[in-house]
Amino acid sequence: MDQIIEINGLSKTFFLEKKQAVCALRNIDLNIKDQEFVCLIGPSGSGKSTLLRLMEGLIKPSTGSIKVMDKPLEKPISQAGMVFQEYSLLPWRNIIDNVVLGLEFRKMAKKERYEKAKDILKKFGLEDFHESFPYELSGGMKQRAAIARAIATSPKILYMDEPFGALDAYTRFQMQKELISFWLGEKRTIVFVTHSVEEAVFLGTRVIIMSARPGEIMGDFHIDLPYPRDRWNEEFAEYFKRLMDLMNRANEGKMMKGCVNND
Ligand SMILES: Nc1ncnc2c1ncn2[C@@H]1O[C@H](COP(=O)(O)OP(=O)(O)OP(=O)(O)O)[C@@H](O)[C@H]1O
Ligand SMILES: [Mg+2]
Repeated sequence: MDQIIEINGLSKTFFLEKKQAVCALRNIDLNIKDQEFVCLIGPSGSGKSTLLRLMEGLIKPSTGSIKVMDKPLEKPISQAGMVFQEYSLLPWRNIIDNVVLGLEFRKMAKKERYEKAKDILKKFGLEDFHESFPYELSGGMKQRAAIARAIATSPKILYMDEPFGALDAYTRFQMQKELISFWLGEKRTIVFVTHSVEEAVFLGTRVIIMSARPGEIMGDFHIDLPYPRDRWNEEFAEYFKRLMDLMNRANEGKMMKGCVNND
């Protein structure tokens, strides 16, 4: 498998209004291979969303470099799709008009883009809701529509920032299963941020644990369990326990670490 994302010596410091420095990430070296399903976990404020935004090309690193598909990343690229926790559907557009958005940007012909969107909405069980507006859908349906929109352009990489965080436990389990069957079928690269160790072990081929701020990589695990995964399996519990121990350490470290601005 080829490397699809290569991050070397990356750090990110934000400067607040009074020029106070907030060192969010430091010493990040991370290589992600094509078709991996990488979950990023870590305490709140450990820089998970920042790392994702850097990989998406929405913000720039303070030091270090990011290459995506062998090219230095300058800005968001068309081969990547993004899904956020808060759905980010346009409230004034109905569901199908939301899903065609990325295809519109790519100047796909109208007939073609609506056919593609219909196809995808069917896969996501939303065929009866083309004309509905986001406020008329449940949280799970909105998130399905947001994922449908992100994959409509057939991105090679899908970045997801706590996409299921706002869903109830049952809907969340359903969405996790759907995401796994999508990924198994289409074999994309997914980088998925979550607070939940359990969700990370259920989904990822690999789990990266971030330390408390300034975020550094404190663990990198390959989850060697077949799909679909069984939460009641003993090996699942073993991975869960190991990662929980590390997460607890990361959270304890949160109280002790100061911010060193090494830029
Ligand atoms: N635009 C910004 N300006 C200033 N500081 C920022 C900005 N974005 C993030 N930060 C700071 O960077 C640190 C990391 O934030 P980030 O949102 O990446 O954490 P996170 O791991 O995603 O947290 P959570 O789990 O709560 O979502 C925080 O201290 C945050 O205040
Ligand atoms: Mg975040």
